[in-house]
Amino acid sequence: MFYSETKPFPESFLWGASTSAYQVEGAWNQDGKGPSVQDLHKPEKFSDFSVASDHYHRFREDVALMKELGLKAYRFSISWSRVFPKGAGDVNPQGLQFYRDLIDELLAAGIEPVVTLYHFDLPLALHEQGGWSLRSTIDAFEAYARLMFETFRGKVKYWLTINEQNVMINHPAAMYPGNVPSQNELHQQNHHMFLASARAVKALREIDPATKIGPAPNIIAVYPKTSLPEDVIAADNWEVIRNWLYLDVAAKGYYNPLAAAYLKEKGLYPHMEEGDLELLAENTADFLGLNYYSTATVSAAKNDGHDRQPRNGDQQTMVGEEGVFRAEENDALKATEFGWKIDPVGLRTTLRRVYDRYHLPVLITENGIGGREEIAADGQVHDQYRITYLTAHFRQAQQALMDDVDLMGYCPWAFMDLVSTHQGYQKRYGFVYVDRGELDPGTMNRIRKDSFDCYHDIIKTGGCSLQEN
Ligand code: BG6
Repeated sequence: MFYSETKPFPESFLWGASTSAYQVEGAWNQDGKGPSVQDLHKPEKFSDFSVASDHYHRFREDVALMKELGLKAYRFSISWSRVFPKGAGDVNPQGLQFYRDLIDELLAAGIEPVVTLYHFDLPLALHEQGGWSLRSTIDAFEAYARLMFETFRGKVKYWLTINEQNVMINHPAAMYPGNVPSQNELHQQNHHMFLASARAVKALREIDPATKIGPAPNIIAVYPKTSLPEDVIAADNWEVIRNWLYLDVAAKGYYNPLAAAYLKEKGLYPHMEEGDLELLAENTADFLGLNYYSTATVSAAKNDGHDRQPRNGDQQTMVGEEGVFRAEENDALKATEFGWKIDPVGLRTTLRRVYDRYHLPVLITENGIGGREEIAADGQVHDQYRITYLTAHFRQAQQALMDDVDLMGYCPWAFMDLVSTHQGYQKRYGFVYVDRGELDPGTMNRIRKDSFDCYHDIIKTGGCSLQEN
C-alpha cells in the first residue's frame, strides 16, 4: 500500500541501540563476578568473552559516545552472575555498583535505560545444578529480578525479561557448550522460562507498578515458498511454532493451541504443575520487544527423511524439521556476507503481524547487519553497507508506523562492536568500531564509523533525513 504522504516519527520515539553484557563487558572474573555459561566458550580462532570490548572499564567513555550519537535509549543486559556470582544467594556489591553507575551515567546523559534481565548468560553455578530444567532456577530468577526492580525503582522504566528464548530453544548449541539437552528437556526448560518471566512480571507490578516489562524474542515473518496451499500451511505452522508459541504466552498468557498440538504430537509438551497456567494467564507483558534480522521461507514437509535441511543453521538460517516444514532459499533476496537474507519489507510485515495479533506497543530491540571491517588508510571505518541496510529498515519501520503499528522505538544491534555469538570480531555490528583484533585486545580505541554520523542525523532530524538519501 502506498501512502500519499510520509508521516514523521513521533516525538517520543525511542531512537536507541543495543548490546548485551557478555558480548561487550569483558572483566569476566573481576570484582567478584561469577562465571556464566558463556565463559565456558574457548574458541581457538575467535575471541572468547573474557575481555570483549572492555565496556566494564570504559563505560563512561561509551556513554559519552552514546550521548554524542544522540541516543534516546540504550538497551543492554545485566549479567546475572556479576550480581549473584552463584546465580542465587549472596549478592556481589561491586557487581551491583557497576550497574548503578552505568544507569546513573545514562540518566545523566538523558538516555533511557532499557534493561534485559537475561541475555544468554545463565550463571554457571545454576547451569551445573541443572539450569532451566529445575524449578529452583525459576526461584533464583525471581529473586534476581526482584533485587533489580528494587534497586532501580524509579530509574528504569522499561525492563525486558529474557532475550530470544525461542532461539535458546530452537538453536541451543551456543547456550550449552558441549552438551545440548534433549528436545524434551528443552521444552521443559522453555516452560520454566515462561514461568520465570511471569514471576518477574508479577514482582514488578508489586514493586514498581508504573514501570513496563516485556519479552524480547527473535520474531520474523515466515513466507511460503510458493502459493501451493501445502506450502502456505507449512509457513503458518512454522510461524506458530517459532514465533507465536512464545509471544502468545508472553502477551496473552496461554499456550497457542496449534503449538500445543505440535508439542503433544512430538511428545514434547512440558510437565506442568498446579497453578502454572494461572500464573501465565495473570502476568502478561505491557509491551513486546522483538529482535528482527531476516525472514524465513519454507515449503511443505515431505516426511521422507530429508526435511531437515540444511543441517547446520543459526538463528537466521532455518533448519527444516521432519514432517513439519522444509527450509528454503528465498531467491528474491540478497544476503549479507554471512548468508543472512536482507529483507527490509519483511520488517514491516513482521511488525504488522505482531501488532495485529497482540495490540500491544512494540519495541525493536535488535536489528542490524554484521560484516568484516577494518580501519581504512584515512583512519576511518567506512561502513556504507550498514547505512544502506539500516536506512532501508528504518524506512520500513516508518511505513509500519503509518500502518498504525504502535512502534515505541528502534534499537539497532549494536551500539558498538562486540563479540558475535559465533564469529567473534570477524563479524562486526557497531556504530562504533572497537580497535581490537580477533585474539589480540589491541588498543581498544573507539572510532566512530560512517554509520555513526548517518544515525546521528537520522535521530537529530526525527527521521526526516531518511527522505533525503
Ligand atoms: C541475536 C542475539 O540473536 O543476534 C545477539 O540476541 C546476537 O546476542 C545477534 O549477537 C547477532 O547474531 P550473531 O550470531 O551474528 O552474533
